[in-house]
Amino acid sequence: MRKKIALIGGGQIGQILAMLAAQKEMGDIVVLDIPDYVNPVKGKALDLMEMAPHGNYDAEITGTSDYKDITGADVVIITAGLPRKAGMTREDLLSTNIKIISAVAAGVKENAPDAFCIVLTNPLDAMVYTFHKLTGFPKNQVVGMAGTLDTARYRAFLSMELGVSVTDIAGTVLGGHGPTMVPLPRLTTVGGVPLTDIADQDLIDRVVDRTRKAGTEIVQLFGKGSAFFSPAWSAIVIAESYLKDKKRVLPCAALCEGEYDVSGLFIGVPCLIGAKGLEKIFEISLSDDEKAKLQVTKEKVQATVDECNV
Ligand code: APR
Repeated sequence: MRKKIALIGGGQIGQILAMLAAQKEMGDIVVLDIPDYVNPVKGKALDLMEMAPHGNYDAEITGTSDYKDITGADVVIITAGLPRKAGMTREDLLSTNIKIISAVAAGVKENAPDAFCIVLTNPLDAMVYTFHKLTGFPKNQVVGMAGTLDTARYRAFLSMELGVSVTDIAGTVLGGHGPTMVPLPRLTTVGGVPLTDIADQDLIDRVVDRTRKAGTEIVQLFGKGSAFFSPAWSAIVIAESYLKDKKRVLPCAALCEGEYDVSGLFIGVPCLIGAKGLEKIFEISLSDDEKAKLQVTKEKVQATVDECNV
């Protein structure tokens, strides 16, 4: 029997998620959206079924607004919620998206209580916190997709600046999904060569700054709406590591209980993702400067979570 992937939200990111999951034959795909948008998601699902002969994939892809249709899902990926428009911060979405995430949490809890859940809705760290709190799911079953995207952006910008293959750049980004995130140049390598040996401080500062503002750069270009290709791919990487027990080490927003001196908050940390979901959080020995930056991002995430009041 095929695996089942439930996508809650069939907008910009949801539709790319559906296409990637189909092309990768990750399983059958159900795209759930609000009743007012159910026909467009049914249409998108049908369009993807009709792409299958050329895409060479076998999958049943359906659109729905009924949570019963996600029953038995192995993975649930949540993008339901408003995206940013130019001039907005992720936190500006809080009051609307918290209501949406609350409804989604109820639907997922009732119909797919064993699924591995990946939250993308912004403000990410607060929305994954809320989803986890309202479902009461074990911490290994819920992660937020943020660091995987932030690290991809960091690697992409380094590749552009250095003129080297992006595949040879390894590094990670810790912290909240926003301008306070903490890229770690000290631990970044290019084909095994330390970044700090081959790049000057100006270049590193430029890339770190661009990474922190990368989501906003895209929002400003789009005008209305936020990034969708790269967030979708980042979530697929996490889902695939779970479904195939690949045990990839990916930066995700995970519930920390003492790690990095963080307790009771979801924050971006290096996570081992395998068949048991979040199997381990790796702790890095940080420098004093990195610790101070992590403290700033932690306070920012805490302030947003405090506003959630759930
Ligand atoms: N249940 C299910 N789907 C919902 C609900 C709900 N309660 N409320 C809204 N949606 C759907 C919308 O109808 C829309 O189809 O969520 C979808 C969101 O799609 P887009 O508006 O295109 O937004 P997208 O770019 O996909 O981003 C979604 O992810 O990265 C974050 O900041 C981004 O919060 C935003 C989310």
